[in-house]
Amino acid sequence: MSTFTPPRDLAEWHRRDLGVLWHPCTQMAEHPETLPLIPIRSGHGVWLEAIDGNRYLDAISSWWTNLFGHSEPRIAAAIARQAGTLEHVIFAGFSHEPGLQLAERLCALAPDGLTRVFYADNGSAAVEIALKMSFHSFANRGMAGRNRFMALQNSYHGETLGALSMADIPLYRRVYAPLLLEPLFAPSPDAFGKSEGETDADCAMRAAAGLEVLVEKHQHELCALILEPLVQCAGGMRMYHPVYLSEARRICERFGIHLIADEIAVGFGRTGTFFACEQAGIRPDFLCLSKGLTGGFLPMSAVLTTEAVFADFLSDERSRGFLHSHSYTGNPLGCAAALASLDIFAQDDILVRNRATARQMGVLAATLQDHPNLQQVRQTGMIVAFELGRDRRTAFDAAERRGLRAYRAGLERGVLLRPLGDILYWMPPYCIRPEELELLAAATQQAIEEACR
Ligand SMILES: Cc1ncc(COP(=O)(O)O)c(C=O)c1O
Repeated sequence: MSTFTPPRDLAEWHRRDLGVLWHPCTQMAEHPETLPLIPIRSGHGVWLEAIDGNRYLDAISSWWTNLFGHSEPRIAAAIARQAGTLEHVIFAGFSHEPGLQLAERLCALAPDGLTRVFYADNGSAAVEIALKMSFHSFANRGMAGRNRFMALQNSYHGETLGALSMADIPLYRRVYAPLLLEPLFAPSPDAFGKSEGETDADCAMRAAAGLEVLVEKHQHELCALILEPLVQCAGGMRMYHPVYLSEARRICERFGIHLIADEIAVGFGRTGTFFACEQAGIRPDFLCLSKGLTGGFLPMSAVLTTEAVFADFLSDERSRGFLHSHSYTGNPLGCAAALASLDIFAQDDILVRNRATARQMGVLAATLQDHPNLQQVRQTGMIVAFELGRDRRTAFDAAERRGLRAYRAGLERGVLLRPLGDILYWMPPYCIRPEELELLAAATQQAIEEACR
């Protein structure tokens, strides 16, 4: 029997929580004075309820995981049903219905030609799998010299050492640099960096030309290019034109290297289409999925690949197989949550509904467009970003931590906006209602005012 007695108040919560826990992506010395710590007791729809009764609108879908609102009853029920039947079973040598059904449905939804599914339990693990599979498939073809990857400037692909190696965000990468692989970084197609007179498409084409030169030069050592389709999320919700994806596909094809599409953050309707790659009509060689895969309920990921890659591993020799595993590979509870989540896409006509929601987000965001402290307001589907600045052309000094001020101001107004540096963004659960979006827009405007004073 547990002898746990819940903390009576916030002060006791802070004392006990900060006495035992180590929270993610946090300088713990900042809790709770600089950075509030908010214990949550429940979540419903877009709302999180704290132990002191305060409510927060989750404008960032809890790190981009939640799709249809917190505690969505259909997903909760599917997990409960599955838990009463089969909670988990080793997935090597054994299989189960939710695992099979989910694989078949993901392949049917993915771009044509992605016909194989490998499961794991988080986004970083999916990236590791895609990297390892790509290298190993070349090695199995007698090309072990192809042992280098290419990623994009300003990219982010996760925190484990292989995935972090592919990241170009100094705050996360720099300290671990001595431990990391050294990919080549190609110019980012990010339209924020476009030159005077350039369109987003021109900017993407310019970056693609840079990519082509770099791939051509290093073709014999490269196995894959990894990228985040359409939006570099952790890199500040930086957005780019889909023509870059078409060009990247063509260049990878031309030089015989794999294309890894990391849709961990942008998949499942975030950019307006079910998968972001659809907007360029391309098929990557590897598609990495996680976060929204289970509707935001359980940690799970999947890597989809082609029959050609799969065939590279078939052999009488055991070591030519992909001997990668995680204990919870193919977890039936995660599969059940993912299946329920896919059902909701159909039942609630989510992509169509999202179009209307995205339109309203655009209209509300446009009212902030001319704010003197916004360098840019940008949108791709259900993602809107606000780039703060000292004025319309100059960034703030990062040391001033304006984003943190905006975060605190948002919380005081009942809105969870967790900026990326000085970039605020909306990436809400799809169930957000028009009046909730209006509240979010008003709170965002106030947070910007307060942060930029
Ligand atoms: C594009 C992308 N790839 C990979 C990851 C890593 O996923 P996880 O946090 O589940 O390891 C993230 C997480 O934010 C991401 O945005």
